[in-house]
Amino acid sequence: MLVLGIESSCDETGVALISDTEGLLADALHTQIDMHRAYGGVVPELASRDHIRRAVALADVVLEKADRKRSDIDAVAVTEGPGLAGALLVGASVGHAIGWALDVPVIGINHMEGHLLAARLADPKPEFPFLALLVSGGHTQFMKVEAFGKYELLGETLDDAAGEAFDKTAQLLGLPYPGGPAVSALAEKGTPGAVELSRPMIHSPNLDMSFSGLKTSVLTAVTKAEAPNDETFRADLARGFVDAVTDVLSQKLIRAMRMTKMTEVVVAGGVSANKQLRAALTDVVRRRRGRIYFPPMRLCTDNGAMIAAAGLARLQSMTPEEIEACRRSTSFG
Ligand code: KG4
Ligand code: ZN
Repeated sequence: MLVLGIESSCDETGVALISDTEGLLADALHTQIDMHRAYGGVVPELASRDHIRRAVALADVVLEKADRKRSDIDAVAVTEGPGLAGALLVGASVGHAIGWALDVPVIGINHMEGHLLAARLADPKPEFPFLALLVSGGHTQFMKVEAFGKYELLGETLDDAAGEAFDKTAQLLGLPYPGGPAVSALAEKGTPGAVELSRPMIHSPNLDMSFSGLKTSVLTAVTKAEAPNDETFRADLARGFVDAVTDVLSQKLIRAMRMTKMTEVVVAGGVSANKQLRAALTDVVRRRRGRIYFPPMRLCTDNGAMIAAAGLARLQSMTPEEIEACRRSTSFG
């Protein structure tokens, strides 16, 4: 069974081809970072228009890479949300057009489920059940994952997501979009402890979190600084920020492992690409004799492979009748 996955929820057009017997055959990605950088963030209308330009061409690229024909595709998976409405609509429209032309089912995938399942494209891959921490630009959530499709939300951010805090901190430090990688690189030059920032809700007796206060602490530090443009100060502040995020997520992970008694842990979403966070969370889990899994580095941020993988998992969980009903609902026949 061959599934074509299409991701277009934000500023990356990702397309991939996955096989039930051979795994991920090919994936291709076009990032719009350079286009949005001049505006300091994603411009939704520009994002949608660029997805239109890229999606079909990328589908042809993956077919060629995998040495397959369009007619080999058995199903199409598209991101149905959450994300930018116009951007999502482009991916869904392209996916439905391909599905209709080939007379194959089209499956809508939740973007965060895609991030979660990207960890199963790693080697070794996590087996169900596991505890998951999803950290992206829009979400910061702890989930109990019993099986494919059986997810229980244990706690989440009450305001900003961790990635959003990275992006806003980058803006305050005059760093380019996207903020995560830029703040991390600057933080590596900073001295730990030189700037201490607040760690909101770190001791709250649940798995909820808050990151908007942290952004305010960064703003206050920048405003109060005598020389806010001093390189050492900026690096120390970035370091203080990354340490605060890492500390909150580490303490919450310890709490989550204790509460669930689970020791198999998956961390996924764009912020899981952060080296410092990976190291700290790996340490937390290993000390508790658990195992931690991350998606392969290039599949932490948005990509088509995670949508293809989630689409394949969904198909494998459906009966032949359900698959046929899905095909009929997306065709005119
Ligand atoms: O998962 P993702 O690609 O898109 C969403 O679903 O939101 O995550 C994007 C977020 C952005 O906020 C970006 O700044 C952050 O992930 N990010 C990072 C790193 N790479 C991306 N944050 C920290 N360190 C990184 N290396
Ligand atoms: Zn994402």
